Amino acid sequence: MFFFKKRPTYSSSNYFKGFTDYHCHILPGVDDGVKTLDESLEILSEYERLGVEVVWFTPHIMEDVPNTTEALRERFQQLKDAYSGSIKLNLAAEYMLDGLFDQRLKDNDLLTLGHEGNQILVETSYFNAPIAMEQTLRQIMSKGLFPVLAHPERYRYIADIEGYRRLRNMGVKFQMNLGSITGVYGQTAHRKALMLIKEGVYDYTGTDLHNINLLHIILDTKIPN
Ligand SMILES: [Fe+2]
Repeated sequence: MFFFKKRPTYSSSNYFKGFTDYHCHILPGVDDGVKTLDESLEILSEYERLGVEVVWFTPHIMEDVPNTTEALRERFQQLKDAYSGSIKLNLAAEYMLDGLFDQRLKDNDLLTLGHEGNQILVETSYFNAPIAMEQTLRQIMSKGLFPVLAHPERYRYIADIEGYRRLRNMGVKFQMNLGSITGVYGQTAHRKALMLIKEGVYDYTGTDLHNINLLHIILDTKIPN
């Protein structure tokens, strides 16, 4: 088991050697994640110490947090200018599948995840699937893009492995949150993450870090490779 009630005597810090963080909210002042540039730089310096090599910033874009591509690029440039370390920094986004996303998709106004430039990190409400979710996923793919579903283990509306297999069979990729296997999102997400690891269906891993506290929790937990 990977969920500890007591603080373990070992850490998962080795896990981060050569790690790519495909999902985090470290770009400052643009969503509910990190607020200040100093805090971003502090996390990046901790990442560097741990051996993280690549970070994809994935700020929220949704109707409630309508970040524009241009404003995020500007903020990203400011952070890059202030950062002098060795981690390779990249900008993508975490898109809520809502009306704003439909518009951005229509306008081809999307920040992609990964160096191929053809993957889109998407999320939904934890409780309910968006209306016409499969139709939206197919629209993404009809543009030659691949949807990467952020933290699939956290969605309550996907009840069993068949629901996950259905998405996989459509061509949807999965990104696991490291916090899920530490138990920070509760027992259901923890159990589902272990089930999906066993199923071998995760393509990417991310911290979904909103502040440095979550990193410390992750570091206190043994993570399966
Ligand atoms: Fe996120």
